[in-house]
Amino acid sequence: TTNPIPPLELTIAIVKPHAVAQPFIVKDIADVLIQEGFITVRSKRIQLTKDEASEFYRDHFGRFFYQRAVELMSSGPLVVNLIAGHDAIRHWRTLMGPTKVFRSRLTHPDSLRAKFGLTDTRNAVHGSDSIASTARECKFFFPDFQMDAWYSRMEPLCR
Ligand code: PPS
Repeated sequence: TTNPIPPLELTIAIVKPHAVAQPFIVKDIADVLIQEGFITVRSKRIQLTKDEASEFYRDHFGRFFYQRAVELMSSGPLVVNLIAGHDAIRHWRTLMGPTKVFRSRLTHPDSLRAKFGLTDTRNAVHGSDSIASTARECKFFFPDFQMDAWYSRMEPLCR
């Protein structure tokens, strides 16, 4: 027999500081998550130090935007959501829209970055780009969360 529930995937969805500072954006994004069928598994508001933000962006060390991205990510509180859904990594990144705000406004005007992004750095939201980065970011923000145990618990529901 096939279970009608498609397998769940976890991803990390972050509202960046400049967007957290704007009234209503966090609420609008929470509404999008519900509307799009995501389950919010964990959520928190957290302020990173510069060292923590450097660690978060370590894969981008050396890129021309690295320093800027680190400064922004540690400039105020973030809202970090651990969310689950079918094909969640791709689904959330589709909702975010293209990294570059000028492009998102042209080609994906309904995307979150088109609506709430200001510049390529202050592009409002972050989403994990792979299963491996989800695992790393989850450990970074929610060290107590047992991802493997969560997937085992969910598996019977997803077959
Ligand atoms: S890449 O090249 O595939 O790594 O690019 P991408 O996945 O789109 O972006 C990775 C993160 O780097 C940020 N980024 C930038 N910040 C500032 N300026 C420029 N030009 C720029 N290009 C990429 C981008 O926002 C991604 O960070 P997160 O936190 O995921 O948004």
